[in-house]
Amino acid sequence: MDKNDIFKIGIGTWKVDPDNFEKDIEALKYSFELGQNYLPLSMLYNNGKVVEKMKDYIKLIGREKLFICVNLERYVEKIEDVEKQLNNYLETLDIDYIDCFQIHTFAVCKISMLEIYKEIFRLVKLGKVKYIGVSNVNLEQLKEINQICKIDFFEGVYNLDCKYYENEGLIEYCKENDILFTAYQPLRRNKISQKNYSILMELSKKYNKTQNQIMINWLVKEKEIMPLIKSTNKDRIKENIEALDFEMEKADYEKLNKFQNEKINSIEINWNEESGVTIDQLANQNEANM
Ligand SMILES: NC(=O)c1ccc[n+]([C@@H]2O[C@H](COP(=O)([O-])OP(=O)(O)OC[C@H]3O[C@@H](n4cnc5c(N)ncnc54)[C@H](OP(=O)(O)O)[C@@H]3O)[C@@H](O)[C@H]2O)c1
Repeated sequence: MDKNDIFKIGIGTWKVDPDNFEKDIEALKYSFELGQNYLPLSMLYNNGKVVEKMKDYIKLIGREKLFICVNLERYVEKIEDVEKQLNNYLETLDIDYIDCFQIHTFAVCKISMLEIYKEIFRLVKLGKVKYIGVSNVNLEQLKEINQICKIDFFEGVYNLDCKYYENEGLIEYCKENDILFTAYQPLRRNKISQKNYSILMELSKKYNKTQNQIMINWLVKEKEIMPLIKSTNKDRIKENIEALDFEMEKADYEKLNKFQNEKINSIEINWNEESGVTIDQLANQNEANM
């Protein structure tokens, strides 16, 4: 599938339940019927069981109708491990190419990230991978990697509370370099709406939409970011997709653009294995206790 054919909201797969997959597969099938076709996968989720189960989902929907993104996991000890991990996904999912291959985090690598990306580029040339992505790195690292090979996707934490990547200029860099920013924890696992921020309450009332719909609409229509939203509940899947059915006034988007959760956005990020919070844990911090 071409990058341009991806639906505006991606499917989240963390916490898809392999032990209750008959129910979850029904919900995911429904999400596909409503348009969702971007499927990010990780061998970390439930010890690889989510990926194993997704083989059935891919068969049900049809391989060509999905855009499948997989993660290279820790630890890459030697360069051959990159292709080995890719082959494991291909075999487990019973498919013969991956749409997007990305490192899950810079901590994946015991060898240099640039070496890894040269290897991923080789796998593109072999036809095993179509697009190259990267997740959980900083702007400097993204720029270095993007010089080795064209990056098409960046997966990072972003939501109304967690604007680290925007404040650091990474989202702007993605726009300038035709890299699609895909946001994980876009609803901060439903925690933001539970805070009842006055801005969300106001917009929710004004547009007659839920607070989560307000945030999804803002992410897609104003920020041009693709949220990856996990839901295996049909009502919430419908609610999330219906967030695309309306427009807000420019002044209202501006209010959301300006919103800053200072406590979260001032947290030091651990990029050097010395101090701070690792970026994947940023949205899990409880600022109420800070
Ligand atoms: N690259 C990385 O390091 C990384 C890290 C984290 C996540 N991810 C990816 O990003 C995806 C999304 O992140 P996430 O799952 O952590 O967080 P999320 O999508 O912000 O939140 C998911 C949670 O919110 C609930 N939910 C969804 N829609 C809702 C709605 N309209 N109203 C109320 N609750 C709603 C879901 O429950 P129900 O299912 O019951 O609806 C689920 O518990 C993950 O699934 C994963 O694929 C990647």
